[in-house]
Amino acid sequence: MCRKRDFGRLDVEYDYDAISAKLTRAPLKSRGARDVWRYEEFLPVQQKFAVKLGEGNTPLIRAERLGKKLGIGKLYLKDETRNPTASFKDRAMAVGIAKAIEIGKNDVAIASSGNAAASLAAYSAAAGIRVHAFVPVDAAIGKIAQLMLYGATIVRCKQEKEGEDATVQAMLRAVDKFGYYPCPSFGPFNPYQVEGPKTIPFELNEQHKWDEIDWIFVPTGSGCLLTGVWKGLQDLRRVGLVDSYPRLVSVQPKGNQALTKAINGHLRFDRIVPEAYPESVASGLLDPFPWDGDSALAGIEKTRGEGVSVDDPAIMQAVKDLAAYEGVFAEPSGAAGVAGLRKLLKEGVVGADDTSVVLVTGSGLKEPDKVMSMLPHKP
Ligand SMILES: Cc1ncc(COP(=O)(O)O)c(C=O)c1O
Repeated sequence: MCRKRDFGRLDVEYDYDAISAKLTRAPLKSRGARDVWRYEEFLPVQQKFAVKLGEGNTPLIRAERLGKKLGIGKLYLKDETRNPTASFKDRAMAVGIAKAIEIGKNDVAIASSGNAAASLAAYSAAAGIRVHAFVPVDAAIGKIAQLMLYGATIVRCKQEKEGEDATVQAMLRAVDKFGYYPCPSFGPFNPYQVEGPKTIPFELNEQHKWDEIDWIFVPTGSGCLLTGVWKGLQDLRRVGLVDSYPRLVSVQPKGNQALTKAINGHLRFDRIVPEAYPESVASGLLDPFPWDGDSALAGIEKTRGEGVSVDDPAIMQAVKDLAAYEGVFAEPSGAAGVAGLRKLLKEGVVGADDTSVVLVTGSGLKEPDKVMSMLPHKP
């Protein structure tokens, strides 16, 4: 973490020439490993430090019924709810905790809406590392339950000032005071975790047999996932495994859309104004400030992508449709990508013949109360 706290970021670079000399699509195919460590040469820590819970290798589902309902022929869901703690954050935290083990840390701290903290707590439990989790006062019940059972120390934080990210402020104070290792998913406070979600586009390309993908829809809060996906696409290109990029779409809730405004208003990162008091049913997408917004903006620009915001009823409709048409049970934040796709199809930005992949990022079991609240009557 940069001492000045001025959002300086450290990008991890690899010896791309050495990798491309050895790696082509064929030997990748014959690899046995079926987790994020399948792509070890693209990760910033060696596999021997890893704690493995089965992270990554999530299914790519051909969503024919949902596609038909939305009016798109080639729709795929990358079902990240199948990760060990039921969100994509396991990719990030598997890498984060391996790094903490490599450098000998026994106490790690995290600021998170809940999923990343639950994930870090699971990996830490398996490694015998203590976790100090700073989460919002109203964090989802399923995420709190995970944190408690994995044995984390939980600090619930309340936003008091406009635009303040109370969990990040508290985490930084604890890092300064107690010397904990900062392990949130956001790049400015730890450079390694964004390397984990990078494995999503790696898997995606292998699963889709390297055929062209037109769009990838990414639910966005801090922008770490978007940054990871963008970094993965660049790494694949740098070693010659792909020669073009799909267009990335950042999807935010209407009640917290600082990054969408920056994308559509062509603002630079340092001009982004935090959302004063974020509010949405998508509790995982409520970071008032997109901490990884610099690289997220670059990813959208370089791939000729889009930024879109969707309202809460549209997000809840997406939760319903994923369950009813595809048997995929997502939390609202995890389903937001579908709402973004629906909107861009309606606006004619995405065509009915385009190939679209939606990242479904977290399980509905995390927030059963919220998901059930949309039912007209209780069972
Ligand atoms: C289920 C889910 N989806 C998407 C996101 C957004 O990820 P990011 O903060 O990396 O933009 C989060 C973040 O917590 C999440 O929990």
